[in-house]
Amino acid sequence: MVKHIISTRDLERDAIDTLLDKAITISKKWPDNRPLQGKILGLLFFEPSTRTRMSFESAMLRLGGTCLNLGGPEVSSVSKGETLADTIRVVNGYVDALVLRHPRIGAAQMACEFSRVPVINGGDGSGQHPSQTLIDLFTIRESMPLDDIQVGMIGDLNYGRTTHSLAYALAKYEATIHTVTPDGLGFPRSVIDNLADMNLQIIQHQTIEEIVDELDVLYVTRIQRERFPDVASYLHVASGYRIFPELFDNVTKNLIILHPLPRLDEIDPGVDSLPYAKYFRQSDNGIPVRMAMLTDVLG
Ligand code: NCD
Repeated sequence: MVKHIISTRDLERDAIDTLLDKAITISKKWPDNRPLQGKILGLLFFEPSTRTRMSFESAMLRLGGTCLNLGGPEVSSVSKGETLADTIRVVNGYVDALVLRHPRIGAAQMACEFSRVPVINGGDGSGQHPSQTLIDLFTIRESMPLDDIQVGMIGDLNYGRTTHSLAYALAKYEATIHTVTPDGLGFPRSVIDNLADMNLQIIQHQTIEEIVDELDVLYVTRIQRERFPDVASYLHVASGYRIFPELFDNVTKNLIILHPLPRLDEIDPGVDSLPYAKYFRQSDNGIPVRMAMLTDVLG
């Protein structure tokens, strides 16, 4: 059966643990036998990307495989009006697996219907971003066990797909999520309902100061400007929050600060040198985690 990775909602906890264990093994000693030699990974990115695109490519090369990049819409038949379904059908003849990033929610799920090769969701609009979640969990697990943790999420939880994916995964580890968001940027109703079905407790707060001392993880995100219906509604909430080093002056817990990146102005650069700041480490962890995912779907 073809193995797709589309949403953390349908990834069993056991499957997540197995992928993380595999990533830990890889991070300790990179495979030297080129297990994916001869395999080709298709990179289909219909939205900008630095980390996801480059780290999947780097992970594939480190495993002995190669990558084929669709390129921007201006160089492919997408500019001639080819549908996503046809693009997926055609690229299936050229690659052994593909990573798809697309502005539409559900695009990766739809791609599975037309794909004979594994599809990894590299982000579908404001929907899901499962590979980022595995990186987030991997980075948390480097500092603490995943069970029962208190996770603060600050930023744009409405459009931020990384927070949706992470919340679904955390529900499987009995976490509690504390949210601090600008007006109107809390989790969408559908995500709240799904999380309630999964028995995840969400507590809303007005300020990050009131909760920071109880957190094991502070997950900061940027406002997803490109997903707002118009510039005015973005400007209304832009630059509404910023994390400064002083926020952590009196914390007693050994918390870690994560951010999927890119950051805009929501984390003051002074935070970077605090021992709590793990976001660049988190970005580095993209390689072993995506190597584990690729060997899983292609192995
Ligand atoms: C995230 C994304 O694309 O959703 N970036 C990433 O893959 N690390 C976060 C973001 O763009 O804000």
